[in-house]
Amino acid sequence: MESKPLNRRIFLSRIGAGATALAVATSGLGVLSEAANAQTDSLLRIKPKKTGFRFTPIKATTKDDVILPKGFKYDVVAAYGDIINPKKDTFGYNNDFTLYFPIKGSNRGLLWVNHEYTNPLYVEGAKVNDKYTPAQIEKLLYNQGGSIIEVYYDKKEDKWKMDATSKYARRISGLTRFKLTGPAKGEKAVGGAINVQGTFANCSGGKTLWNTVLSCEENFEDTSKNAGLDPTHYGWVIEVDPFDPNFQVRKHTALGRFNHENASMGLAKDQRVVVYMGDDKKDACVYKFVSKDKYKPEMGKANSRLLDKGTLYVADFKKGKWIPLTIEAVKAAADGKPDLLEKFQTQGDVVTNCQEAAILLGGTPTDRPEDVEISPFDSTIYIAHTNNDKHGNLHGHITRFIEKNNDHGETEFEYEIFAAGGRQSGFSAPDNLTFDSNANLWTVTDISSSSLNKDAWTSFGNNGVFVIPTVGDDKGVALQFASAPMEAEFTGPCFTPDEKTLFLSVQHPGEETEDLSNPTSTWPHRKGEKVPRPGVIAITGFNF
Ligand code: FEO
Ligand code: CA
Ligand code: CA
Repeated sequence: MESKPLNRRIFLSRIGAGATALAVATSGLGVLSEAANAQTDSLLRIKPKKTGFRFTPIKATTKDDVILPKGFKYDVVAAYGDIINPKKDTFGYNNDFTLYFPIKGSNRGLLWVNHEYTNPLYVEGAKVNDKYTPAQIEKLLYNQGGSIIEVYYDKKEDKWKMDATSKYARRISGLTRFKLTGPAKGEKAVGGAINVQGTFANCSGGKTLWNTVLSCEENFEDTSKNAGLDPTHYGWVIEVDPFDPNFQVRKHTALGRFNHENASMGLAKDQRVVVYMGDDKKDACVYKFVSKDKYKPEMGKANSRLLDKGTLYVADFKKGKWIPLTIEAVKAAADGKPDLLEKFQTQGDVVTNCQEAAILLGGTPTDRPEDVEISPFDSTIYIAHTNNDKHGNLHGHITRFIEKNNDHGETEFEYEIFAAGGRQSGFSAPDNLTFDSNANLWTVTDISSSSLNKDAWTSFGNNGVFVIPTVGDDKGVALQFASAPMEAEFTGPCFTPDEKTLFLSVQHPGEETEDLSNPTSTWPHRKGEKVPRPGVIAITGFNF
């Protein structure tokens, strides 16, 4: 009989030590052993470093602070309301996705930050029960979208800071003018619009191969309704060049309109651009867009036009096939159904009413696909299915797609469940994902504020950050790296290129507060302040 070393969590649970021992065990995550999955290894494109990333996992906690393992610390780089530039623009509310663009390597750069939604209690000063006034609408729209801030590491003080004298820092918000690209541009489906007002509900995003940011409009419905804006102008993927205000900000309608979580870009073997996307809604699908034309690095930012034209696919998990969402296919499926034939007449109608077209053509409804990320090590695709209480999947799971021939341009795939949330793994509601150079998958969790620390979620404590090796003996085992303040979720993890710093958003601390004089969190505990603020932190202490 083959004898195999026990992985750490199984080992600890067998010696009866469980969580206590985990807290004191120093983990050597990501160290590749001979036992590493041979199939995975054969797919590796970037070789993981063999140094091994070590930290002492923390225990679940309900402390109103960012709790990190020994040897790590955090600095608050920017929080809601902070002035970001000489024009005195301010940092928006509920920061989410972050993306670091180097200026001086890993010590100074621009940080793109999404702002997902507002909390009227903190932004307007009170709950809004009636119609929003024009002044309230302006605040509602200004505090969503994105911030471009300049950040730097102050070596003397050993601290990350924001540079509010930056010439690059600016806001993109619900008030910024956008152009539309792709099949819905100027179409009846979007009221004939070529340009539209603003972006909001910006959840997660991605980076293009040409160094711009993609930011995703997720739950846009409330804001468009409260602001009296056309809902068909939202639910798209936007593109911004953080360095160049002359790059006309745009919404790429070819990538579909739904409750977009993020957009992860890769290349097919024939150099077409591929974008994987999740639709964060119960019983919603996983998508990918494949451009018609090929990526040409020498074209720089002009490659943005690749996102105007291509094929949008939805995943059929049962058949392991990517189904193209074309008007021809939709018309054929709608045959004999006059209301559908009326609704779907052009490709613009298909991309605008994407969720309906996807289900009609056989897309598989899944448990709220949040972040979808491509592993830089083996090109497989990880999908955070956060949860879905409609089917009793309360803690979610992380799915892994393996494309045929390991090619993003293929239309067939296989999949597996890489890790499952629950008591056994210690995490619940995986959301944003990222990788480190040791081939560890990092996931943040998003147990909703109203469920935290009670009922089926009692054992998890506050939301957290978890590190899960994707290769080696500990493949799929989650270890907790951070714990969030009360009622907050962590979002948007992003490493600097040298991996010495991890940027991370702390979103909606104290979200369940009813009375401003008695908030449920006071993070980031600024001197003289008694209310919480969402903010972006920089975590240091890494040694990969
Ligand atoms: Fe905005 Fe899907 O979380
Ligand atoms: Ca999210
Ligand atoms: Ca979420």
